[in-house]
Amino acid sequence: MILFENVTKTYPRTVRPALDDVSLEIPRGEFAFVVGTSGSGKSTMMQVVMKEQDVTRGRILVAGRDLDRLPERKVPALRREIGCVFQDFRLLPNKTVFQNVAYALQVLGSSRARIRQTVPETLELVGLAGMEKRLPHQLSGGEQQRVAIARAFVNRPPILLADEPTGNLDPDTSLGIVQLLDRINRTGTTVVMATHDTVTVNAMRKRVIRLDRGVLVSDMEAGDYTTGSIPRIRLDEEAGAPRRADEPGVSDGYDDGDPTAYDGDDIDGTPGALRPIGRDADAPRPRGGIFRRHKAVQTSDR
Ligand SMILES: Nc1ncnc2c1ncn2[C@@H]1O[C@H](COP(=O)(O)OP(=O)(O)O)[C@@H](O)[C@H]1O
Ligand SMILES: [Mg+2]
Repeated sequence: MILFENVTKTYPRTVRPALDDVSLEIPRGEFAFVVGTSGSGKSTMMQVVMKEQDVTRGRILVAGRDLDRLPERKVPALRREIGCVFQDFRLLPNKTVFQNVAYALQVLGSSRARIRQTVPETLELVGLAGMEKRLPHQLSGGEQQRVAIARAFVNRPPILLADEPTGNLDPDTSLGIVQLLDRINRTGTTVVMATHDTVTVNAMRKRVIRLDRGVLVSDMEAGDYTTGSIPRIRLDEEAGAPRRADEPGVSDGYDDGDPTAYDGDDIDGTPGALRPIGRDADAPRPRGGIFRRHKAVQTSDR
């Protein structure tokens, strides 16, 4: 659902590209870390997915949309499908926890009834039930980041991008945040997290995409930050590679409609409005593409 084909991004008045001929595919429902030292292009990768930056060369598909061809008027619809979390939380300081999360729905035009139902559900999901009336300064850093995650996820976007979300947190708190992102991923939302936090990356055994000065230097299944473990196999050289679900003309299940219009079950099985739209258990899963999972991991990790 996120596809980069030979993507190069060179900022104006710079020589070295921030992203240098990057090709990768992040299938729908995946959890992927993007690692690399400061300046390696992690934030740029997030920004081009959001279309906050245009690429210099190459092609990006996000949830079936070719970003290069996406008219400006459709950018808001793209961004509604992508929740974002940042290192510095970016909460509204004079608004309560509830209001910070509710605000994300208000700007989408959600009804008051929907807000009253969804905000408490989401705060409970992130472990903040009972803290609705607090102001951000009355919370720990980890709790503030949970509010930011609730805000990013409250409209159940199919994609969540987190740019160094644990950068300001101590190791124990960081692990809790990554576990929360993992929980969100299990509802079907694709999660991409940029980080250089080796401890959490190694603890999670997820895909690790490594950038070095803009170049994709490794892409490891169930990776270890330092060594990596199982290299991903290139599939595009194989005969009969399956057609990508993200290719134009293949429906990927998303449209420009109201992304808040969920009507399924709660992720805990309770009937309600919490059904994620990122993954539909009955729908065929997109397969293959440029990379596919290593067989040994494929069964255990899905
Ligand atoms: N707005 C910008 N204008 C010019 N150069 C930029 C801009 N943003 C990032 N860069 C440069 O692009 C490279 C990658 O930066 P960035 O994507 O922020 O990396 P990371 O998030 O991994 O630290 C760096 O060399 C950085 O200086
Ligand atoms: Mg960055």
